[in-house]
Amino acid sequence: MQVLDGKALAETIKEELRQEVDQIRLAGGKIPHLAAVLVGADPASEVYVRNKVQSCEQVGFQSTLIRRGSETTQEEVLEIVRRLNDDPDVDGFIVQLPLPKHIDEDTVNLAIRPEKDVDGFTPVNIGRMTLGLPAYLPATPNGIMTMLERYGIETEGKEVVVLGRSNIVGTPMSILLSRKGNPGNATVTLCHSRTQDMAAHTRRADILIAAIGIPEMVTAELVKPGAVVIDVGINRVEDASRSRGFRLCGDVDYASLEPIVSAMTPVPGGVGPMTVVSLLMNTLKASKGRLS
Ligand code: GUN
Repeated sequence: MQVLDGKALAETIKEELRQEVDQIRLAGGKIPHLAAVLVGADPASEVYVRNKVQSCEQVGFQSTLIRRGSETTQEEVLEIVRRLNDDPDVDGFIVQLPLPKHIDEDTVNLAIRPEKDVDGFTPVNIGRMTLGLPAYLPATPNGIMTMLERYGIETEGKEVVVLGRSNIVGTPMSILLSRKGNPGNATVTLCHSRTQDMAAHTRRADILIAAIGIPEMVTAELVKPGAVVIDVGINRVEDASRSRGFRLCGDVDYASLEPIVSAMTPVPGGVGPMTVVSLLMNTLKASKGRLS
């Protein structure tokens, strides 16, 4: 089995980005600047945002982290969004999700200017992506597309099954892989919590993408021998034997699939680092003032 090493690939792409930033600096151009808004104290979000800021430093981007406590009001978050929308020095920004329950994520998302929406979550960018127009593509599905491309995994005419229909992973993933292009041109089935006989679908998949948020749900019985498996899940499972009291695992039962699949992403070190790289690539695009 081939391990699809997202960590190593992300490092390679970050090195390419770093060189491009060096060129921009030498030419006296604008250094890309990403801002991240983190509200509350969700432990996973803290880790993700820290990774994003550190990755910016690694490639030479400027970054700004705006942190607010969980008591912050929706109006205060909207005020931060408006300020970032209007700040000419900030090329793109993200509001880390989930937000505290008293803040409506849709309202905040709709306030983000599409030109600065480097997460690709706003209706304009999702619409542009769906039409095949230049757009900021959502980071996780785009990271998976980059991985498929760089590893030379053929998608044309293949049966792809996506598990999970979230707005930020499953749904855009199904759109990107069914579009014309390479990667693309796949026949895509989108399974979700109301799917009947999920195994009947997954066993037909040449490429299986699990983004359902259930720890180690995808076991060997659900997978066709020789399939390529992409695990998007990052689940914290209680484990008293670990110093942190939990272990991280994906939506895929890695050990049971290892003997039968042809290629698979590990967790951690698979899709996660590619997601961060996609965000950096979108930020570079934003700093060049181009949606493409
Ligand atoms: N929470 C989980 N994934 C993401 C992401 O890609 N972007 C943001 N802003 N929040 C998230």
